[in-house]
Amino acid sequence: MTQPLPQLDAGGRLRHLITLDGLDPGLIRELLDRAQAYQRPPGQPPPRGDDLRGWTVANLFAEPSTRTRASFELAAVRLGADVINLDVMLSSRVKGESIIDTIYTLEAMQVDVFVVRDAEPGIIEFIARHVGGHVSVISGGEAHVSHPTQGLLDALTIRQHKGDLRGLTVTIVGDIRHSRVARSAHRAFTALGVGELRLVAPPEMMPEPQEFEGARRHVSFDEGIRGADVVMMLRIQKERITVAKPTDIERYHENYGLTAARLATAKPQAIVMHPGPMNRGVEITSEVADGPQSVIRRQVANGVAMRMAVLAHIADARRRRAP
Ligand code: CP
Repeated sequence: MTQPLPQLDAGGRLRHLITLDGLDPGLIRELLDRAQAYQRPPGQPPPRGDDLRGWTVANLFAEPSTRTRASFELAAVRLGADVINLDVMLSSRVKGESIIDTIYTLEAMQVDVFVVRDAEPGIIEFIARHVGGHVSVISGGEAHVSHPTQGLLDALTIRQHKGDLRGLTVTIVGDIRHSRVARSAHRAFTALGVGELRLVAPPEMMPEPQEFEGARRHVSFDEGIRGADVVMMLRIQKERITVAKPTDIERYHENYGLTAARLATAKPQAIVMHPGPMNRGVEITSEVADGPQSVIRRQVANGVAMRMAVLAHIADARRRRAP
């Protein structure tokens, strides 16, 4: 018998954040509202708080990251925590130490929150099942499976530009099969009642039929982008593609690259998103990435606010559980 996911506490608050699967839409909205309250206009000092004063947050990233790792660090520091960043590839893991011994070692140093990115599906849940009762685990990206804070920050970005997700047409384009970003976006957008979710990909990058319930699938980008309110581009996840034949990049760009001409067939006020890192000239042109409809840098800014919101929520929940 499968055990229930150890994500929520008895009060329905987050103890860990492993996935958006099954998360109550009310809780998702609460996290988005909390992140919205951390917004500051460019040029103003960033928001700060005491929610994590006395806490220690450890970033354990076993895959490369720029945005997620830096934003979790900034979020934790701005909430008053001490932060350690462990480059897993330079840690004692390479000498044969197991992930759980690494966790126990850091837990002995009084780490309160582990932010974990790993290429192995299931490892984040496994860690969550093994940490002490006061310790929380947050996914910073799990294999191709899940990237919950990315899904939340993407939903926040759409809400800021378009208001309610209900009635919107959102088109996700690219290597959806290998994308944890797309899976968490699907969860977040569906929970918030998105009008229509379209997936655009070549057949070999389309997910299995049983995945992405409710989404419409298009092999033709021109068909899938028509009349869209939001166009989310994804990079090709070369690190997860095992087929022998490499993608013909020129052909890929021709069929699945977002150009100004293609964008003109979406709604006139459509926004363009990309979780990063971008491969300019492959899935998106610089003209579009840096153009007036792009909200890609807004996504990055929202990443810090969203991670502050998740950390502050988890700290609140722990305080409520304390006797
Ligand atoms: N969007 C995202 O996860 O970017 P990084 O890989 O740079 O963290």
